[in-house]
Amino acid sequence: MATLTPEKDENIVWHQHVIDKEYRAKIKQQRPSVLWFTGLSGSGKSTVAGALENKLAELGYHTYLLDGDNVRHGLCSDLGFSEQDRRENIRRIGELSKLMADAGLIVLSAFISPHRSERQLVREMLPNGEFLEVFVNAPLDVCEKRDPKGLYKKARAGEISNFTGISSAYEAPLNPEIDLLTGEYSIEQLVEQCLVQLRAQGIIQAD
Ligand code: ADX
Repeated sequence: MATLTPEKDENIVWHQHVIDKEYRAKIKQQRPSVLWFTGLSGSGKSTVAGALENKLAELGYHTYLLDGDNVRHGLCSDLGFSEQDRRENIRRIGELSKLMADAGLIVLSAFISPHRSERQLVREMLPNGEFLEVFVNAPLDVCEKRDPKGLYKKARAGEISNFTGISSAYEAPLNPEIDLLTGEYSIEQLVEQCLVQLRAQGIIQAD
């Protein structure tokens, strides 16, 4: 992949435009943030993030949902599931999430993002308090039983390589801001758990 040489780098200067993040957030009357949903395939990341986005939209917040499968159709369509490609996938999504937060949005990013180091990298791209790690926490056997896309079955049959949880590692968050037990609570309860935390962090207003 092409990277900038130091010489090229010196010739690229950040341009500070007049309309900034603070201004964009102010006219939206909200605090931008990135809610980063991580978990195994089939854990419920897209489902919970989607239900939370519905609720936030209903409350009048401006949001954008970035979803692993969708982003891999476009921005990341050149990437596979090797360690290196996953790292690049998460780096790009991290930068994209940061841009969207800069646009003043509440961003919901739903990606397996199996490695702690990459999630930490994204956390460090953003100002303190603006990145919330949401662990979509369901045991492997539950995800495998759900198998909504039939991918676990294929992975067990050896038809998919590097499948997270089967032939590729998943590193669970050690200290997530939100821990969602998707095998034990309803979607409504999980959305409510997120809203409570978003209010506590001052991202959305108390009702
Ligand atoms: S990540 O590991 O790079 O964060 P991402 O969230 O973008 O993954 O994509 C995961 C989705 O790709 C899964 O929901 C699943 O539908 C599909 N997929 C295809 N191959 C694999 C694989 N080897 N491991 C995990 N998910 C896969």
